[in-house]
Amino acid sequence: MKVGGRYFRTIWVKPDDEGVVQLIDQRFLPYRFMIEEVRTVAQMATAIREMHVRGAGLIGASAGYGMYLAAIEAAARAAFDEHMARAAEQLRATRPTAVNLSWAIERQLRSIADGKTAEEKVALALRTANSMAEEDVEHCRMIGQHGLALIQQIARKKTGKPVNVLTHCNAGWLAFVDYGSATGPIYAAHDCGLPLHVWVAETRPRNQGSKLTAWELGQHGVPHRVIADSAAGHLMQHGEVDLVIVGTDRTTYTGDVANKIGTYLKALAAKANNVPFYVALPSASIDWDMRDGLKEIPIEERGAEEIKHADGWFEGQQVEVRIAPEGSPTANYGFDVTPRHLVSGLITERGVCEANEKSIFSLFPEHAT
Ligand code: MRU
Repeated sequence: MKVGGRYFRTIWVKPDDEGVVQLIDQRFLPYRFMIEEVRTVAQMATAIREMHVRGAGLIGASAGYGMYLAAIEAAARAAFDEHMARAAEQLRATRPTAVNLSWAIERQLRSIADGKTAEEKVALALRTANSMAEEDVEHCRMIGQHGLALIQQIARKKTGKPVNVLTHCNAGWLAFVDYGSATGPIYAAHDCGLPLHVWVAETRPRNQGSKLTAWELGQHGVPHRVIADSAAGHLMQHGEVDLVIVGTDRTTYTGDVANKIGTYLKALAAKANNVPFYVALPSASIDWDMRDGLKEIPIEERGAEEIKHADGWFEGQQVEVRIAPEGSPTANYGFDVTPRHLVSGLITERGVCEANEKSIFSLFPEHAT
């Protein structure tokens, strides 16, 4: 997507130096647009853990490139496989909820195993990292097309008035390599001239909505308004939301959806007010081994500073301030699980299906056992 009129992806190999991966460092958005250069698997692990990069698809792509950097390191050592196994563990330990992370690591390990020499293994790792990034782009583009059909259906009933879409967190192009999952249909609708307006839930505590989704929608010229998380129910009660589209970090093959904390409350409000609640996801975010999302999906807990501090832009600088009593303990759950019965449908790269085992397997029969 475009930033200041120039085309960017979120992650790429440096054009004149194949040993360097460049990425948009999201910690500085929306205040400053910064590119980070990552040279080692340890640096990539830090970038994922400390959320320089975040969002399920981009976490997967970053892990893929992290394994490529690890292969370059391993080629300079005697014990190639041991180094790769350690790198896989290091990356796996960064964040627990997005299933794209382990999906990308496993895929790299399988692909690298086909190389006969260290040189071949490095080349395979680069090819696989690039393929995963390209697939992510193509899958989000297809999600956009399938979701567009849903938005068009709603638009027909609105006779020229804008379709109001509500989204939570950032499942935009910044959370993937390009286009985004929840924003895929939004950008597709906007680009074909359909009148549309997006309610962007700020998404406490890290504000991925107000900082990232609002920023990227603004860069693309999509009309939007930022709301406090707690405003969503009120808007739905008053007929101000036609459709909710969110992303997911892990969805079970039975249709339970883990997404950023606060998603479940929006799904409850949507159900109570007959507002369609859709989840947009590439198949890399489906956990084909997990049946019961509430019991099985690991929910990341993060540090107190995210709850007790907030950052902002003040007199030309990014500053951090405390917003809660110093002595108050916190609980900081990163994600929640929306049970399948609250989900109207899943928008995938192969089309839209219901959030249940039968419907998911009918789109992805190769995963049915
Ligand atoms: O903790 P983050 O910023 O990595 O959160 C993940 C997310 O971006 C969201 O949960 C998103 O809605 C789904 S990931 C495409």
